[in-house]
Amino acid sequence: MKVGVLTGGGDCPGLNAVIRSVVRKGVQEYGFEFAGLRDGWLGALQDRVVPLGVPEVRGILPRGGTILGSSRTNPFKHEDGVRRIQDTLAAHGIEALVAIGGEDTLGAAAELSRRGIPIVGVPKTIDNDVPGTDYTFGFDTAVGIATEAIDRLHTTAESHMRTLVVEVMGRHSGWIALHAGVAGGANVILIPERPFDIDQVCAWVKRRFEFHYAPIVVTAEGAVPKEGQMVLKDRSLDEYGHVRLSGIGDWLAREISQRTGTDARTTVLGHVQRGGTPSAFDRWLATRFGLHAADAVKDGAFGTMVALSGTRIVRVPIPDADTKTKMVDPSLYDEFGVFFG
Ligand code: F6P
Repeated sequence: MKVGVLTGGGDCPGLNAVIRSVVRKGVQEYGFEFAGLRDGWLGALQDRVVPLGVPEVRGILPRGGTILGSSRTNPFKHEDGVRRIQDTLAAHGIEALVAIGGEDTLGAAAELSRRGIPIVGVPKTIDNDVPGTDYTFGFDTAVGIATEAIDRLHTTAESHMRTLVVEVMGRHSGWIALHAGVAGGANVILIPERPFDIDQVCAWVKRRFEFHYAPIVVTAEGAVPKEGQMVLKDRSLDEYGHVRLSGIGDWLAREISQRTGTDARTTVLGHVQRGGTPSAFDRWLATRFGLHAADAVKDGAFGTMVALSGTRIVRVPIPDADTKTKMVDPSLYDEFGVFFG
């Protein structure tokens, strides 16, 4: 059997580890052949198919990014998208697809699968918000990078007795902000799931100064003030209708400065969180997902996604575009209230 592999959406550390393990297991155990589709669904639409055998996946385990390239292409936004994908698969004799992606790529995979294309999904994203899996790979690496940045910001904040706001990724969910904020000893953590009260934030900041410590405020890019609108730098949308975020960190520093009369600065971590080599945990998880995806193809378990449940890898239906994003549970967030201020 010939199996196509693609990676879609924002890249994340561990994608290459999945590609390597699905190919290794598929070739060695099941005698599959593989082909890579370039740049996610775009390569499937444009018939851009590359060889993907054991030689191509040698040495890629610790490499960040994806050797197949990625894009945010939504096949349903392109004329004749489904037929064009079917044509590409037929032209190369590809009988099954492994789609590695976040909620958008997988949402498209779920719909394509309903329309008869045999697909196994693998969840990825640094945001950790794909429903159906306890964790996605990429998340642990991103949290590690953000935590290290927060550790470094503590010392410079103390030297200047100023507030440092750290903006991390997470447009719908605050997993990175919460985990890195807790690990890095932040004094305020703001997440999209819980609209914040700027007066409360300023009260926490002032309290921290009273103890002669400099406040560290960690905010997810999608966090919003209670009474206000989402703060946006621009309004351009991607093909899945997501607006580009960034701006809440700057807004917070400005408000904190004005309202408390103290100095505040912002660091936006941005794509640094997505780049570079995956952590050991992400390599482990990505490798397991790849091995189990090969098994799922072998079993003909199309329309399913491999997922982590506790310590076990299970199969769940590929979440479709309407499935709710996996959010931070309010009670989990509340556990850390004692550290605020
Ligand atoms: O979806 C993952 C993510 O890292 C989000 O947290 C972030 O909003 C988005 O990607 C930004 O991605 P890009 O720069 O690729 O549009």
